[in-house]
Amino acid sequence: MHDFNFKANELYCEGVKVSTVAKSVGTPFYLYSHKTLVDHFRKVQKAFEAVNPIVCFAVKANGNLAVLKTLADEGAGFDVVSGGELKKVLKVYADPKKIAYASVGKTDEEIVLALKAGILFFNVESLPELERINLIAKKLSKKAPVALRINPDVEAPTHKAITTGTLKNKFGIDLKTARAILTSQKKYPSVNFKGIHIHIGSQIIKVQPFVDAIKKMIVFLKDLETRGVRLEYFDIGGGMGIMYYQMQTPTAEEFAQEMVPLLKQTGMKIVLEPGRFICGNAGILVAKTLYLKDNGAKKFLIVDAGMNDLIRPSLYNAYHNIVPVKKTKVKESVMDIVGPICESGDFFAKDRPFPELKSGELVAVMSAGAYGYAMSSNYNIRPRVAEVMVKGATWEIIKQRETFSDLVRGETIPKFLK
Ligand code: LLP
Repeated sequence: MHDFNFKANELYCEGVKVSTVAKSVGTPFYLYSHKTLVDHFRKVQKAFEAVNPIVCFAVKANGNLAVLKTLADEGAGFDVVSGGELKKVLKVYADPKKIAYASVGKTDEEIVLALKAGILFFNVESLPELERINLIAKKLSKKAPVALRINPDVEAPTHKAITTGTLKNKFGIDLKTARAILTSQKKYPSVNFKGIHIHIGSQIIKVQPFVDAIKKMIVFLKDLETRGVRLEYFDIGGGMGIMYYQMQTPTAEEFAQEMVPLLKQTGMKIVLEPGRFICGNAGILVAKTLYLKDNGAKKFLIVDAGMNDLIRPSLYNAYHNIVPVKKTKVKESVMDIVGPICESGDFFAKDRPFPELKSGELVAVMSAGAYGYAMSSNYNIRPRVAEVMVKGATWEIIKQRETFSDLVRGETIPKFLK
C-alpha cells in the first residue's frame, strides 16, 4: 500500500531512515515516497487499462513540482483548477493535450492562458462561463475545447465539505441546462464541444456512487444521441478514497471492475482525475514532540506541527494514523495530540492511546500526502515547512522551509504611518 515501514523499530521511507532526514532538515517536514507515487499511478492506469484512459492527476492534492514531474514522467495528464496549477504543470513539460481545466470561477486571464497552452479541454461549470469562453476564444481566433461539467445530482457518502455532485453544491451544470446547451451548439461558434465531465466528491470509499453517477450519465448520453449529439470524451473525475487507518477501502481494480464495463458501453474516450488515490499514502508529516502536558483532567502531547501545516483533522475531523518514528516501550495513555496554534481546533488526534513521548522524540502523521502541504498556510506567522522526496536510498529537499524573510515578503508600512 505504501513504502513507509518499520525496520528494527525505526520508521523508514523506502531505504531512508526518517530520523536521518529529520536530523538534517529539522522539523516539521513532509516526506514523500517516489515509489509509492509511481506505484499508485500505475495501479490506476492498469486497473482501467481496458478503456485506455487519460489519467489526469488532480494537482490540488499535491502541487509540488517534484511530485508533478514524477507523474509527468509516468505519462500522467493533469487536472488543474487555476492559472497557477496550469503554469506549474507546464513547467514540468506536461503534455497540454492531457490537461483538463475545471473550476467554477475561471478568470479571463486564466482562460486566455489555457487557450494559448492548447489544453485538452475546459471543464465548464456554468452557462455564463461557457459564453465567456466562447467570446474570449473568438477574440483570439481560436476554438475552445470544452467538456460540460454535469452535476448528476447524486449523493456521495463522504464528509459534507467534500461532496460535490448534488444540486445543493455550486459545481457543474444541471442536466436540463446541459441538454439545452449541447443541442444548440451552433450558438457557441468558437467552442468545440468535446465531452462531458462529472466529479461527485472526494474520499468516496464505496464503488456504488460512481456506478450510479456513470449510469445516470449513460442515460443522458443516450438521450443526447437520439437528438443527434455525440461526444468524444467522458471525464469521470476523481474521488476514489484511500485507507487512512484500518478501514475497508476498494482497491483500484475493485473500483475499475464495476466501472469499466459501463464506461466501455459509452464507446467514448475516458478521462480520470484521481488526486488522493495517487498521493495520499505517498506522504507523511514528521513533527517533533515539544511537551507532554497533563492538566489533571487530560493529557496533551504538544508537537511542533500545527493545523496550519495539516488542516484536515481540524477542518473535516479527519482521522490520520500517528506513529512514533522510533518504536518505544514507554507507557501509553489516552491523550490529544495537538499543535502550538492558538485555537482549540488545532489538533491531529483526540483521545488517542499513544506513548508518553519525551521532548525531542519524533512522530509521523501518516497518509498526509494529499491535501496536506497543499492546504497549509502561514497562520500564526509560521513558515511553511520543508518537503522532502525519497527515491530508494537517496533523498532530497524538494521545497525549502520558508524563512522569516519569506513571511514578510511584499509587506510594507505605508507612508502615512512612517
Ligand atoms: N477532480 C475535481 C474536479 C475535483 O474537484 C477534485 C477534488 C478531484 C478531481 C480530485 O479528487 P480526489 O481524487 O483527490 O478525491 N481537501 C479535501 C478534499 C477536497 C477535494 C476537492 N476536489 C480533503 O482534504 O479531504
